[in-house]
Amino acid sequence: MCGIFGVVAKKGDIAKKLLIIARRLQYRGYDSLGLATYLDGEIDLRKDMGTVESVVEALKLDNMKGNIGIGQLRWSTFGKPSKINAQPHFACDKDLVGAHNGNIVSFYQTKENLENEGHNIISQNDGEICVHAAEKHYNKTKDMVKGIMGGIKEMEGAFAFICFHKDTPETLYATKMGSSLVIGLGEGENYIASDLPSILPLTNKYVPLNDGEIIEITADTYKIYSAKDGSEIKRDPRVTDLSAEEAVKGKYDYFLTKEIYEQIEATEKLAYGLESDVLDELVDKLANADIAYLVGCGSSFNACNVGSYYLNNLAGVLSIPVIGGRFFEEFKNIKPTDKMVILNVSQSGETKDIINTINFAKPKGFHILGMINVPGSTVERMSEAYAYIGAGIERSVAATKTYTNQVLLFLILAARVGHKKGNISDKEFEELKNEIHNISKLVEKTINDSVDKAKQLAKELSKTDAMSLLGYGITHGVALEGALKIREINYISAEAMYSSEFKHGPLSIVEDGYPVIYIVAPEDKYYVTSHISEVECRDGRPIVIGENIKGLDKHVKPGDYFEIPKSSQLISPILAVIPLQLLALYMSIERGIDPDYPRNLSKTLTVD
Ligand code: BG6
Repeated sequence: MCGIFGVVAKKGDIAKKLLIIARRLQYRGYDSLGLATYLDGEIDLRKDMGTVESVVEALKLDNMKGNIGIGQLRWSTFGKPSKINAQPHFACDKDLVGAHNGNIVSFYQTKENLENEGHNIISQNDGEICVHAAEKHYNKTKDMVKGIMGGIKEMEGAFAFICFHKDTPETLYATKMGSSLVIGLGEGENYIASDLPSILPLTNKYVPLNDGEIIEITADTYKIYSAKDGSEIKRDPRVTDLSAEEAVKGKYDYFLTKEIYEQIEATEKLAYGLESDVLDELVDKLANADIAYLVGCGSSFNACNVGSYYLNNLAGVLSIPVIGGRFFEEFKNIKPTDKMVILNVSQSGETKDIINTINFAKPKGFHILGMINVPGSTVERMSEAYAYIGAGIERSVAATKTYTNQVLLFLILAARVGHKKGNISDKEFEELKNEIHNISKLVEKTINDSVDKAKQLAKELSKTDAMSLLGYGITHGVALEGALKIREINYISAEAMYSSEFKHGPLSIVEDGYPVIYIVAPEDKYYVTSHISEVECRDGRPIVIGENIKGLDKHVKPGDYFEIPKSSQLISPILAVIPLQLLALYMSIERGIDPDYPRNLSKTLTVD
């Protein structure tokens, strides 16, 4: 999944504005970068493989001039990472330049059709197909909106596309056809970008877009058209309170470090949601449900695993965590009832696997609910009711504060629904409210108590290339998340599973010193003690993360007990993930890996 962006401005340094956005979209793809600007009748296109800083340096992108420009950051799908496959691309006559984000699944067929009609396609990248398809229809109509409408019909896939033409050098055009895109409104300049956080240093005024829309902006106007019939769609701008400052590293070495510490403030802010009416609609929908499918990908799916524990045990709503790409394969023949909801959990609100689930389930009559972080995102716009996790902008590809706030929001929702349905007494609800309001202090203590130990353990474990992480009951989702963190930014095998399942096969991996990390909640000592001793007696290296549970330390070597502050069973998973986040961070630093931009990954995947 890539990042596309464009700026049209009456005056000022166009390259500077384009690179401000590019630097904030880097987490969406860092295989190559390209910019195209227009000045005095010429389009200046510069692009190459590499990170933003390396390409800016090599091609002097910050010297580019003009009043209009577009750019693209690539996470390769069609066509190897290379200079020729980098975007933007010219059309045949170099009068039109464009770039896309997403996938054109009809790439080979559309390429063949266009080549048979004389188009000269020079790369193996599906983005170039979009440019030639638009050119074909623009040349027939001399109207870029019609050009894009016609071009869209030539292709099959989910994408967003941006372009400009020498004939109209003061106008940017774009379309949203399944991948994220937003308009930003400035003073004497306007922007188009793949996501809202990327334009925040330039403006907090934006216009959200829906799939099937074509956009036309100049330095002081914006228009939206239906891609179906070209009719104009009126939509007022919105103002976001997300701040640009949130997305700079400040005093921290990495965004990941910063975002781990930001969990203190993020959990405190979200705890106030407990009493707020903003959650009322979502609480009502869940309280009315008998079955809730909790759908997410990556860290969001891991949060759904802890969330299902809360909803099943506190709220009495039968809750099933489902991987995003699996829903419609697994549940396609389920007949939705009014008592069934799908709660889609996605920090970006743009993950394609989740959008696919909604596009499948909504027409079938499922109630679509959302838990998101980015305002104005597609999941928000397709949900009957939704709630923000309020974690602020997350830049590091590996999720931390968004995962933690997703888990906390699940606890808050389950508590509210459980109390509303009478599953939780007033007294129990009050006690839980006090614990939730105290969480950020426990998060702060857990971080401060864990840093040195995590650094020390990371020194040792960074030399290993495989380990297992075992959770039980409420901590299973934590083991999944810890393993994902370690895999994402260390490129080693870290397998998570239910600790009772380990003896049914995977135990064979254990040999002298093989690390097995147990995440133990206060009430689960009985079963987990046996699980630990099964590894201990085979010379494996059990490592425990949990509060000081009497006698459990006897089963691990001195230094291998990662003690976290005392808390209730329900709060413990929110604290227990922190040592794992820190361990993954320090291991990657030990291994010389940039934890913010791990290879082959991207923060938000808007492709299948
Ligand atoms: C992946 C990210 O691309 O998408 C993960 O690397 C993330 O960190 C996953 O958890 C799901 O993203 P989202 O935005 O749907 O929560």
